[in-house]
Amino acid sequence: DSKKVNMPRPELFDFHGVPMTHFFTDDWENVQNFKARPDDILIATYPKAGTTWVSYILDLLYFGQTSPERQTSIPIYERVPYLELNNPNVISGKDLADNLPTTPRLIKTHFPVQFVPKSFWEQNCRVIYVARNAKDNMVSYFHFNCMTRLLPEPGDWSSFYQKFLDGKVLYGSWYDHVSGWWKKKMTYPNLHYMCYEDLSEDTGREVDKLCSFLGLSPSAEFKEKVVNGVQFDNMKKNQMANYSTFPAMDFNICSFMRKGKVGDWKNHFTVAQNEGFDEDYKKKMKDPTLQFRNEI
Ligand code: A3P
Repeated sequence: DSKKVNMPRPELFDFHGVPMTHFFTDDWENVQNFKARPDDILIATYPKAGTTWVSYILDLLYFGQTSPERQTSIPIYERVPYLELNNPNVISGKDLADNLPTTPRLIKTHFPVQFVPKSFWEQNCRVIYVARNAKDNMVSYFHFNCMTRLLPEPGDWSSFYQKFLDGKVLYGSWYDHVSGWWKKKMTYPNLHYMCYEDLSEDTGREVDKLCSFLGLSPSAEFKEKVVNGVQFDNMKKNQMANYSTFPAMDFNICSFMRKGKVGDWKNHFTVAQNEGFDEDYKKKMKDPTLQFRNEI
């Protein structure tokens, strides 16, 4: 509707060294003082790395059997609050999290690791980080910037490409984000670092790894149900998972569940952009222990 389309877009500004918009910093004090509980589970990602996919897997694993009504009545973004979101059209992520009736609480953030409220670390909460290869992440983020008025104006594809390489997009540099979280894993064992590509290649295997990290042992039958429920086509048509009820997104531009593929970057990058990207990537990503797959 016209309200969505006419909503003014926010501007990026430097926030403790990271480009942010006010919707994700307005509630900073409250968010920083968030009181985590030891059984909270934090799902952290750079935007568009598969947050919703993993959120939905976790929600099903924990509540799929005990509260099936949840699956048809509460959208995923209300089951798994977006901690730092503060927008007048929706209730703040922090308030939503504070009032979640279920245990464990599943909480989502896109913060770079240094922004995470300290209570999560103090309580030794389980943290799941999901990363996606930079090329697909960039393409997905471009389309998302086009369709979501909570984000700054992306410009055309080639200008967005340059902004992404320069880290001048909301939440800053992909390179810093995935590397910062990777380093955290070395000192914080309760962090499970997983990749979109692995999840796409073999969802069942990645669900097994998640269950072992979380200390869950679902029956084979229930696990099958979860794996099936979180397939792209099923999530795309699921009103409670596909964001179709969320304000400020223009589904005429594209849907939230857009393609769900590994390698869609090939339909966007020119040969020159790909070469430029690869050259720049080598300079920025020097840690040989952190590798991504651009295709599977
Ligand atoms: P595309 O834009 O490439 O399609 P996030 O949840 O972090 O915002 O990430 C959104 C991206 O994850 C979108 O990528 C979306 O289609 C994809 N995605 C969501 N659910 C998925 C699923 N079940 N299988 C594969 N991809 C999924």
